[in-house]
Amino acid sequence: MSMVTGHGKTAVAGAIYVDLSTGFMGNDPRVERMVKTVGQMKRVFLDEEARREMDPAQVMYAMEYWKPVPDGTEGGLFFGNSTVFPGVIGEEYFMTRGHFHAKRDRAEFYSTASGTGMLVLMDEQRRATVQEMGAGSTHYITGRIAHRVVNTGAVPLTFLACWPSDAGYDYAAIEEQGFSVRILRRNGVSEVVVQS
Ligand SMILES: [Fe+2]
Repeated sequence: MSMVTGHGKTAVAGAIYVDLSTGFMGNDPRVERMVKTVGQMKRVFLDEEARREMDPAQVMYAMEYWKPVPDGTEGGLFFGNSTVFPGVIGEEYFMTRGHFHAKRDRAEFYSTASGTGMLVLMDEQRRATVQEMGAGSTHYITGRIAHRVVNTGAVPLTFLACWPSDAGYDYAAIEEQGFSVRILRRNGVSEVVVQS
């Protein structure tokens, strides 16, 4: 038994189709979608004034995800992608808000489909590290590590993700203090700047 997906590709029943060259997950009704706009990124960027001057409807990043089991299910997994669009606010590249998992010990895989950028990782003592992202780069994010993706390139950065269905999100810790490093564009190149 098979079904035709939005890509015109045939996926076996029970499976969804992911275009691994782009990371996109097609028009499958099981795939949920969400976008984050410039207007939804209050106080995330260093230059809040520059953000306010931008079109609040501009999409900063978009997500597709497949949740085969309900949120919070212990032992299950979710699969999805995120696309961070190219751009800057002031000197700071477009990026995801970033989060710890609500269940702190839950890990996650990221795997880059296309584009270039940086994965910013920070532990609970605010010690940060950065990993370069590019097509094929696959990142294991251990538990208790906050994670954020920054697009430092000129094209959209799309990565696939797989995470536990009971991981949840804790955005509050990041909203209060932010990450301890920021990725800024200075003289046309990306620079990792330590904040606090
Ligand atoms: Fe996560």
